[in-house]
Amino acid sequence: MESNTEKLVHAFGALADLGQEIASEGGFSEMVRTSLHVLLGTLAIRRGAVMACTPGSDALECIALWGLGDGFPIQLTVTAPEREQFLGAGLCRVTQNDNSSFSHFLNRHQTELQNSRLELIVPMAGRGELSGLVVLGRKASDEPFTEDDLEVMRAMVRHIGVGIHTHRLLGQIEQRAEENRRLYEEMRTIYKDTVRAFAAAIDVKDKYTKGHSERVGKYSEVIARELGWTEEAVEGMAIAGYLHDVGKLVVERDIINAPYKIDAKASKELNRHPAAGFEILSPIHHPYADIPLMARYHHERLDGRGYPDGLRGDEIPFGVRIVTLADSFDAMTTDRPYKTRLSFEHVIQDFRRNTGTQFDSKVVVAFSRALLKEVTGAVKERRIMKLLNKNYFDLDRAVPLLTNLITELDSNTQSTAAAGTLA
Ligand SMILES: [Fe+2]
Ligand SMILES: [Fe+2]
Repeated sequence: MESNTEKLVHAFGALADLGQEIASEGGFSEMVRTSLHVLLGTLAIRRGAVMACTPGSDALECIALWGLGDGFPIQLTVTAPEREQFLGAGLCRVTQNDNSSFSHFLNRHQTELQNSRLELIVPMAGRGELSGLVVLGRKASDEPFTEDDLEVMRAMVRHIGVGIHTHRLLGQIEQRAEENRRLYEEMRTIYKDTVRAFAAAIDVKDKYTKGHSERVGKYSEVIARELGWTEEAVEGMAIAGYLHDVGKLVVERDIINAPYKIDAKASKELNRHPAAGFEILSPIHHPYADIPLMARYHHERLDGRGYPDGLRGDEIPFGVRIVTLADSFDAMTTDRPYKTRLSFEHVIQDFRRNTGTQFDSKVVVAFSRALLKEVTGAVKERRIMKLLNKNYFDLDRAVPLLTNLITELDSNTQSTAAAGTLA
């Protein structure tokens, strides 16, 4: 009696070990190997193997073995009907051929199994599917298996079967997730290529400001990155920059390319482009929010004197303010038919004069910081400077100009914040 209790305690302990092994985060093969060792150790069996079904094939794959000679692994197959039959068939003794469900299987494999001195076949299942077979040799003591032994064996094999099944499911899920990731990446690439093609189409129409959309995209990206935004948000800002003038596609080419300052009527026509851009972009499902709104609002001003909607302050989304600054910076630093570009000193003056009325102070500071890092060599990649003419900067003069502007705007922001606190 005592010996039976001891055995039971031993078996339960082993089962607990097995459960832990299966639930552990270690490698799959390691899990199966250890599980087989626990099973063999618990019942003092000399040899055995775990043979797993392979999806889409009759062949069984040996995924763990112990105590078997050079002839192993032997090639075992399980047909589709057998996979069904084995599910509720219990186990089978190889020499006795005592289970009719296994008769065809043993016709094919009895000799090989006996040559390997394997005596028991125990089917493994997981969620109503055969996940494989565990094949086992005799006990080290040569005693026959008792009913208790078989019960413990069934329980352990069930555990291993569920472990294998779960592993397979996880594998499938990972594969699907990987496929989805790849598809998503492909779609993003297609989307980005399309956006670039759009930007090129806009810029081709506007012969004087060639490359404008692309530059605005790049400046917007630099600003968002300087603000510490996530990669996805940074990408979204680049797209918004590329597409901000898409509405120009519906404005007459002569107006866009007029080699002189246009009259009020033409100006009204040109000013349709933000709203037209919104119309063009709205039906498209963008992976980033607000792209159509950024096109619509990029000529709005914080003081309410912009167009088309005359929005004020907080009514203008933050992303729009980035595009507005990027857009204006490019307009100031490129030659137009009726005006040459501004010197860098003048650009800084313009920033200073219009921050708070046209430009957002935080955006101006972020842009100036990013540029300062490039000018001083604090960052290697000169993303802004690359887009400007080589001789545009007098580097020595640019540093104090940018530093002063940043300090000035930073202290303004702080005093505004303090005033806000007092109020
Ligand atoms: Fe515009
Ligand atoms: Fe623009």
